[in-house]
Amino acid sequence: MCGIVGYIGNRDSQGILLEGLKKLEYRGYDSAGIAVFTSNGLEIKKSKGRLAVLEDKLKDDPLEGSVGIGHTRWATHGKPSDVNSHPHTDNSSKFSVVHNGIVENYLDLKDELIAKGHVFVSETDTEVISHLVADEYDGNIVEAVQRAVKRMRGAFALGVLTEYEPERLVAVRFASPLVIGVGEGENFIGSDIPAILEHTRNVYILNDGEMAVLTRGGVELMTTDGENISKEIFHVDWDLVTAEKAGFDHFMLKEIHEQPKAYRDTMLGRIADDGKSVNLKELNMSDEYIRSIRKVHIVACGTAYHAGLVGKSVIESLARIPVENDVASEYRYRSPIITPDTLVIVVSQSGETADTLAALREAQKNGARVLAITNVVGSSVAREANDVITTWAGPEIAVASTKAYTSQLIAFYLFGLHLARVLGSQEQSAVEELIEGLHALPEQVESILEQAPVLKQVAESMAHHKSLFFIGRGVDYAVAQEGSLKLKEISYIHSEAYAAGELKHGTLALIEEGVPVISLVTQEALYEKTLSNIKEVKARGAHVLAIANSGFETEVAKSVDEIFAIPKTLPILSPALAVVPLQLLSYYASLALGHDVDKPRNLAKSVTVE
Ligand code: AGP
Repeated sequence: MCGIVGYIGNRDSQGILLEGLKKLEYRGYDSAGIAVFTSNGLEIKKSKGRLAVLEDKLKDDPLEGSVGIGHTRWATHGKPSDVNSHPHTDNSSKFSVVHNGIVENYLDLKDELIAKGHVFVSETDTEVISHLVADEYDGNIVEAVQRAVKRMRGAFALGVLTEYEPERLVAVRFASPLVIGVGEGENFIGSDIPAILEHTRNVYILNDGEMAVLTRGGVELMTTDGENISKEIFHVDWDLVTAEKAGFDHFMLKEIHEQPKAYRDTMLGRIADDGKSVNLKELNMSDEYIRSIRKVHIVACGTAYHAGLVGKSVIESLARIPVENDVASEYRYRSPIITPDTLVIVVSQSGETADTLAALREAQKNGARVLAITNVVGSSVAREANDVITTWAGPEIAVASTKAYTSQLIAFYLFGLHLARVLGSQEQSAVEELIEGLHALPEQVESILEQAPVLKQVAESMAHHKSLFFIGRGVDYAVAQEGSLKLKEISYIHSEAYAAGELKHGTLALIEEGVPVISLVTQEALYEKTLSNIKEVKARGAHVLAIANSGFETEVAKSVDEIFAIPKTLPILSPALAVVPLQLLSYYASLALGHDVDKPRNLAKSVTVE
């Protein structure tokens, strides 16, 4: 998973490529590089480290030319190093390639090329592509790339240049995202739209097996088999400013604060004006189909998986349909029992997560209908699913997902209510109460955000600990898992989330004097049981912070060291509030430890490799 950009036009390409890469750093940032046609031919500059390192290198010694490609890397094959950075080239240095994805059969291809005399300098799969294209070249770069990709297995979005044909930039998409930007007298490629949005709002979104040949004057589209194709231009009408930090110190903090808006936007137009029902008109599924659903599989990764855990409770309680949750990377390999009456719901902020996409395809192959909950219109998941609920959270840049997660929760509430309307599985009064509760959420989140300074203090005292625990029951356990992941990924503090009643079956042995335990206590029906578990950890010296629902916080306060009350809401809606203090705790803990909040080590925003 990496980011690629490319430019062909009349302007100086270096600045355009670097700006594009800045927007793509969320996809990986362990090294970066560019290749540009200069007066000396095809020149490459690349280096290990953040883009800033490359920028420094180029400051004194720029690459001047109006055609180029660029790359920001998240290492898969070969450690982060100068030599493993992209762009890669062949032995003649006449070809240059940037690549996002993985070539699964690269070792076979490499052996074959070595036998023909090719000499490799890096450990990457991408270097094989540049050698392969060079090997296939007989005077036409487009045909050489077509022949090369036919021999490759795996996932790839490519940008290819050759010194022999400096007036053409070739781009290919196969299972990794790629868009083509259409300008006037100039054209662009990018792993996503923000990378090129500064220059054009007209884009072609390539499908798998499609490629584009860019010149200054135009874009030719074709399949990798060489068949010409035509596509409609997608006009982007959203604003780049929405992808900037808007005065916040970090994207994560900005995105946490954008949640009230994300909730409102995701609900907009989906709830009847009289507040009596939810109708997701964008769904293609008929009422007859809904009545035929016998089970639901919710499949996703990471934070999106955690949203799915809440989704299970929502669908089971509102529609009374049994739900199974799966981590996408496991789904295909466990031979899931998928029947035509199984609805598979895939959840993905980016819509490009390789494991989730593979699960979607597996489900469809086995005859299931797939509903996607995604934040990116036009993403692979959105395009391949049978039905889509878009979460209108806006671009999420921070690696740690916040507003996408809570918008996914809103999508599940809406979908649960949509099912309940068709199935008649809920009393009208319960539906109206839930809708009222949904409408109240944005303001309630705002009131939590106002208390950020309190959470900052708690986070600062927590940040010195080596390890901590999150506990909860029911949906509180689902939220505990998300809180734990959030803390781990940006503060690097070890933490574990446990079903509160499960601790005593082993993990309790880890509780000793001073160990912080964050306990979620938002479920009225379960709070006495959770209090017993709190007492168990307190008795072993734990320092307990409770996140409790207003209403019984006074009772809970008696048994804990610190308490943070969230506004009163319905039990099923509490995850949409309870997670917010956990997001802030993680943010401030990371800050206190001096970490790079938006770009945590070893991670990338969009994981497009399996
Ligand atoms: C969230 O904080 C994580 N960075 C990560 O778990 C993420 O949710 C996961 O990779 C799934 O991404 P997706 O929603 O884009 O599919």
